[in-house]
Amino acid sequence: MSTETSEKNNVDPYFQALFADRIGGASYGKDTEIYKFEKIKRAKRKALSDHPGRKLLDFGIGENDSMADSRVREVMNQEVNKTENRGYADNGIAEYKEAAARFMKRHFDVSLDPATQINHSIGSKPAYAMLPACFINPGDVTMMTVPGYPVAGTHTRYYGGEVFKLPLLAENGFLPDLDSVPDDIYRRTKMLVLNYPNSPTGATATREFYEKVVALAKAKQFIVVQDAAHIMLSFDGPPLSFLQTPGAIDVGVEVHSMSKGYDMIGWRMGFVCGHERIVSAFADVKDNSDSGQFMAIQKAAAAALDDDSIPTRIQAKYKRRLEKLVASLKRCGFDCNVPGGTYFLYAKSPSGTEGGETFAKAEDATRHLIEQFGIVTVPWDDAGSFLRFSVTYVADTEAEEDALMQETEKRLGDAGLVWNK
Ligand SMILES: Cc1ncc(COP(=O)(O)O)c(C=O)c1O
Repeated sequence: MSTETSEKNNVDPYFQALFADRIGGASYGKDTEIYKFEKIKRAKRKALSDHPGRKLLDFGIGENDSMADSRVREVMNQEVNKTENRGYADNGIAEYKEAAARFMKRHFDVSLDPATQINHSIGSKPAYAMLPACFINPGDVTMMTVPGYPVAGTHTRYYGGEVFKLPLLAENGFLPDLDSVPDDIYRRTKMLVLNYPNSPTGATATREFYEKVVALAKAKQFIVVQDAAHIMLSFDGPPLSFLQTPGAIDVGVEVHSMSKGYDMIGWRMGFVCGHERIVSAFADVKDNSDSGQFMAIQKAAAAALDDDSIPTRIQAKYKRRLEKLVASLKRCGFDCNVPGGTYFLYAKSPSGTEGGETFAKAEDATRHLIEQFGIVTVPWDDAGSFLRFSVTYVADTEAEEDALMQETEKRLGDAGLVWNK
């Protein structure tokens, strides 16, 4: 039987029972649960077919809307033609690590040895896949904040470890309550994964919080991985690195990304920096997983890191868009403020409409807003019910941004949303 025929007849391939338990074992590929982003996609399709003339107002896309800066593309243009950039980059070239060290010194006054305390990664996502390989044996625990970016948790489980979830609640400023963690969990915890500025809540960390984390890590003997993907999109003050905290370099690493703050999402560049021994363990696992990012891309990324006008411009754009969005949403009844950082606005989900609809979860509100009003948001129901609005929509001019906001406000006004007080 050809593969095509066996797929059509729903006949399992001979290797169905061979799939590893970590991805579902013999049940792999048969899961009928529909995931959040697939539900959003389906609701968008329905909205477009029910209202073909109505434009979708898409606040659901979590990716920068602009190309990398023209100066970065120009460096790439030149480097791509140089013979010396052609080969395996392995654990990375000195030029990028040195630019990362200059970046950490200039922005955060953190001094790092580029040779031993910094290593590139092919975007920051693979770093979260690889760091658990450095620490997690079966039964070990990774503490992760929820809602959040799940990759380190997924890989912790792949290695037979467990994830202990730390809910991020509005009443705690979206910082985890580390005092509530049971001692049995602390005894088995090897990693704490943090992410500030936080996605999706938009919260930033405080110096006091980081000081507490450093003290706890030493007392309870775990390492800290701080995800700084959105760090250059900080709005409530200068960006704050975990490594600025006294003693932080003794307990962990911070993972940086070129994606958000430098409009380089698809270029796949980031770096892990901090404690030399952790960076070296990461580099060893990485060396056994990939052969490094194309050197021309590393050189373009180094040029980006050396040009502070790039993140300054991108930060100003998303701040402006967030301010406009907050003003519009407030007029429609949302209780929200410009977040401390990220390009996300995380707002309490409505409980229903004046017309009598009720929403048990943010997911219900999302579906209603997409299907009835063509407004796309992302629901989060992990710790309370919230809608995430991303300001990465496509608008070439400020006038287009304003028109989009006006239309959003009109449609949300028509929706007549209400909140349980
Ligand atoms: C919080 C957070 N961390 C890390 C990443 C990974 O970014 P990248 O792999 O593009 O560096 C993302 C991407 O969406 C993110 O939202």
